Amino acid sequence: MKKDIQSRADIDDLMNRFYARAMSDDVIGYIFTDTAKLDLETHLPVIGDFWETLILGANNYQKRGRNPMQIHAALNLKTPLRAEHFGRWLEIFWKTVDESFVGERAEFAKTRAEAIANRMLNFVSGVLAIQIRQAR
Ligand code: HEM
Repeated sequence: MKKDIQSRADIDDLMNRFYARAMSDDVIGYIFTDTAKLDLETHLPVIGDFWETLILGANNYQKRGRNPMQIHAALNLKTPLRAEHFGRWLEIFWKTVDESFVGERAEFAKTRAEAIANRMLNFVSGVLAIQIRQAR
């Protein structure tokens, strides 16, 4: 029977499965593998802290002093991140949550992911528009 997300181990498991899927995906895989050349060994502990902070209130991502909006804005300069990329990212995230977890935290994770994806798309598009204006 499925259970809710309860521990860091659950989050690590979720992330392992999410990245396996995202990195081999036809729509967004190249952004991780070719554009960012993502090193999973470095990235997984960071992303684990991010979700542990959001879902379990761990407060350990803040200590890293990083800004996901700016990180994705920088990525957007290397390759455009568009609505269809965020849509696909979210589809994979939801599917990965649903296949193993059920409950309040699982629902919360999906809702937060959607809200952040929307803000991120808005943020990176805004940054892009500013740059186009400045280049004129
Ligand atoms: C189009 C959709 C997305 C793509 C292609 C994408 C891709 C990436 C890549 C390649 C990195 C590594 C960047 C680097 O280290 O240089 C990254 C980092 C990260 N992403 Fe995304 N991402 C997407 C959406 C999201 C969303 C919606 C969230 C949150 C709900 C998110 C959360 C994060 C976080 C927390 C990091 C780590 C930042 C850090 O290193 O502190 N991403 N993403």
